[in-house]
Amino acid sequence: MFTANGDYANLKGNYLFYEVGKRARAYAEAHPDAELIRMGIGDVTQPLVPAVISAMHRAVDEMSRAETFHGYAPDFGYEFLREAIHKRDYVSRGIDVSQDEIFVSDGAKCDVGNFQELFSRSCRIAVLDPVYPVYVDTNVMGGRSGAFDPVKGGYANITYLPATAENDFVPELPKEPVDAIYLCYPNNPTGATLTRGQLKPFVDYCNKNGAILLYDSAYEAYIRDPELPHSIYEIEGARTCAVEFRSMSKTAGFTGTRCAYTVVPKDLVCRDEAGNTVRLRDLWARRISTKFNGVAYVTQVAAAAAYNEGYGEIMNTVNYYMENARIIRTSLEAAGYTVYGGQNAPYVWIKVPGGDSWAFYDELLDRCHIIGTPGAGFGKAGEGYFRMTAFATRENTIRAMERIKGGKA
Ligand code: MLT
Repeated sequence: MFTANGDYANLKGNYLFYEVGKRARAYAEAHPDAELIRMGIGDVTQPLVPAVISAMHRAVDEMSRAETFHGYAPDFGYEFLREAIHKRDYVSRGIDVSQDEIFVSDGAKCDVGNFQELFSRSCRIAVLDPVYPVYVDTNVMGGRSGAFDPVKGGYANITYLPATAENDFVPELPKEPVDAIYLCYPNNPTGATLTRGQLKPFVDYCNKNGAILLYDSAYEAYIRDPELPHSIYEIEGARTCAVEFRSMSKTAGFTGTRCAYTVVPKDLVCRDEAGNTVRLRDLWARRISTKFNGVAYVTQVAAAAAYNEGYGEIMNTVNYYMENARIIRTSLEAAGYTVYGGQNAPYVWIKVPGGDSWAFYDELLDRCHIIGTPGAGFGKAGEGYFRMTAFATRENTIRAMERIKGGKA
């Protein structure tokens, strides 16, 4: 009989947002009159901006004519998009990244999940706790986690770095040797940020110990504080140890359109199991050209418009969500909740009265018809907290806060 990958058996339950959605669907079926407000998964609600839509229309028209039709896209992205990304995200900020280190993809979730295929099975990874579950689950699938240990509240072979209210959301360096560290700033789920000075020890640790840093910067557009870094390459030494993941989902409303990119610097050199010196960039390029046929032309034209003529428009949408974040934060504070995040991030992290985050999920759903995400789904240190996103419409954000204040749906 066919033998399936047994590592999947180590996964603990469903993928978090699948579970959140499943429970909300069951509730909606049982209560068809309930007007649910979705503040769970970070899915955007504002339409693509006009500049992006017109670029998309133009590209669709091009696809209709033989002279301008496009077949397979270049594996790593069209140069017009890589150039637009390079100029906007790196050159304009004086950051040392070159265009051929940028790999366009169909999503940061896919990239961050796929990247662990380049790791040896014996690599030990470190993640923050609480953590975006994709980092952990994909390493479980890759056979690096060991079994889930209920006493530890995590996987036997994964190192957890608590980043909680108790340590001001500033994680400590790993106390045991690790080969890869996942960081996400602005942070999903807590909305916390780190300064350059707080990131530097992680870069130094990786360079000193031959580890790599996987830096998920999907929410950088939400940074308001001018002192905070947008890219890990703003930290000296990052080019020799860090990979950066960026997304257009929350920045340009591409959750359904799908476009993102990953930066793998040429200076990031390591050894493979046979002791050969390899550049991770070359392995990533090899993986992409083998397994991926590029992002659709129409999508890449639309993405380039977001970086070029549509940039002001997409930033207006980001500002719209940040005003939602402010409304959530201030309303919940006024209602007596302790809240974190929401100032440089689209996520607000709420301390749960009573401490049971799934119970709070059920209560909020039942009492206020609001869907959020229980902190326990992000790891042991997430228990006792609850995440709300700023991606609802303004109207629904205000209605949700009124429902919570009024204590009823
Ligand atoms: C989230 O809600 O954490 C994100 O939407 C998940 C994702 O981007 O995959």
